Parts: sequence; C-alpha cells; structure tokens
Amino acid sequence: MRQLIAGNWKMHGRLADIPAYAAALRAASAHTDLLICPPFTLIERLAAALAGAGVGVGGQDCHGAAQGAHTGDVAAAMLAEAGASFVILGHSERRHDHGETSATVAGKAQAAIAAGLTPIICVGETEAERDAGEAEHVVRSQLAHSLPAGFAGVIAYEPVWAIGTGRTPTEADVVAMHGAIRAALVEKLGEAGKGLRILYGGSVKPGNAASLLSLPEVGGALVGGASLKAEDLLAIAAAAPRG
Ligand code: PGA
Repeated sequence: MRQLIAGNWKMHGRLADIPAYAAALRAASAHTDLLICPPFTLIERLAAALAGAGVGVGGQDCHGAAQGAHTGDVAAAMLAEAGASFVILGHSERRHDHGETSATVAGKAQAAIAAGLTPIICVGETEAERDAGEAEHVVRSQLAHSLPAGFAGVIAYEPVWAIGTGRTPTEADVVAMHGAIRAALVEKLGEAGKGLRILYGGSVKPGNAASLLSLPEVGGALVGGASLKAEDLLAIAAAAPRG
C-alpha cells in the first residue's frame, strides 16, 4: 500500500497561503498519498484549490453528535460537506487542552465514519509514562478505548514528548511500538486490523523522514510543523519508500 503523508497545520495558515501551497502540491508528483488538514475555516478553500490534484483534505477534530447545541463544535457531516475526506481525532493537543478521553474519541470516530470520513486516531505516551516503562501499556489502553467496534481508518502513533520538540524515538522504539499497535489492531479487529495504516508522528522532518518511514509497520507520517511549507512536506513524501 502507498504510504500516507498527512500534514496537520494545527492553528496555522491563512487564506492568503493557499494559492502558493496548492500550486506547489499540484506541480509535484508524489508516490505517496498526500493529505492536508488545515483549520476548519480553510477546508473548503483548500479543497477547491486542490480539486482534481489527488491530494486529500481533512479536518483536525469533529463532534461526536450529528448536530445539536454544541457551541464552537463542528459535525463530521459539515467537514464532509466542506470537502474533507479525513479527520484527525484524539490528537494529544485535543486530549490535553480539551480533556478528551479515549471514550470521547471513540464517539467522534463513530460519527466520522457515519459521515463517510476516514478517522485518523492519534495515540501516544507522555515522557513520564515512557520513563516509567508504561509507554506500550498506555498506547494499548488508548487503542482499546478510542476505537469503536468495526473501526476502519488510520492510526497515528505520536509520542507526546516528540511533538514539536525536534526529538524522535529511537528506531528500535518506533519498531517496537508499531509492532505492538499492529498486534493490538489484529486482536481487536481480526483480519481487518492487518491492513490499517499506522502513521508515525512527532518531529518528522525532511532530514529524518527516510529512516523513520522505512521502518517495519510504519505506513506514513503525520507531520505538524514541517507541513506548513509545501516543499518540506513534499520532501518528506519523496523520502517514503515506494510500496
Ligand atoms: P510536529 O507535530 O511534526 O510539529 O512534531 C506532529 C503532530 O502533532 O501531528
């Protein structure tokens, strides 16, 4: 399967950035799938600018309900209507800043799937949890509770301490965690768990992408800071193995 290189713009990006960014992606011919997840307000404009380019657009969160009195929230069907085909769920910044639990994330994933979106569920341990030898246990527990029954989507392993810090786990640690995630997916989903993509995220840059993306069970990357420059995102995609 082709790798998925997904850009998470977080709370960055303005309307004025879209033409040049979209033009750079249009001019490139990546051998991976590409996905850009901008803030809600830019989804429709980015999707229009990328129409026909084979690049996906996604949201960074959605609510677990189809509609209702939820001030400030966005429903999955609204994202789909704006042109999104994916949605990032349970990012550590959502879990930390907004108190999202794995149960909340599972509800959101169910809503996303019902609206025809592919959820990207984020999991990952804090530094204290890794130091305590709890990393695998924490990630397994997040997976057990964040994935609704019959889950079909993407998993992103993002160690919290590697996000935005320039630090990455050792290759051995990435291999061990991705292997554990694969085992947990197969335990939970059976045969279907074998084919789901598991992305690595946390300080992925053009300079470290080739080694991270070549590791077993790494099916792509979730890229924050480096996705703000189209050239950097494309350099990361270019470093992915052909599959
Ligand atoms: P980073 O963020 O690439 O800036 O570390 C990754 C993420 O939070 O998805």
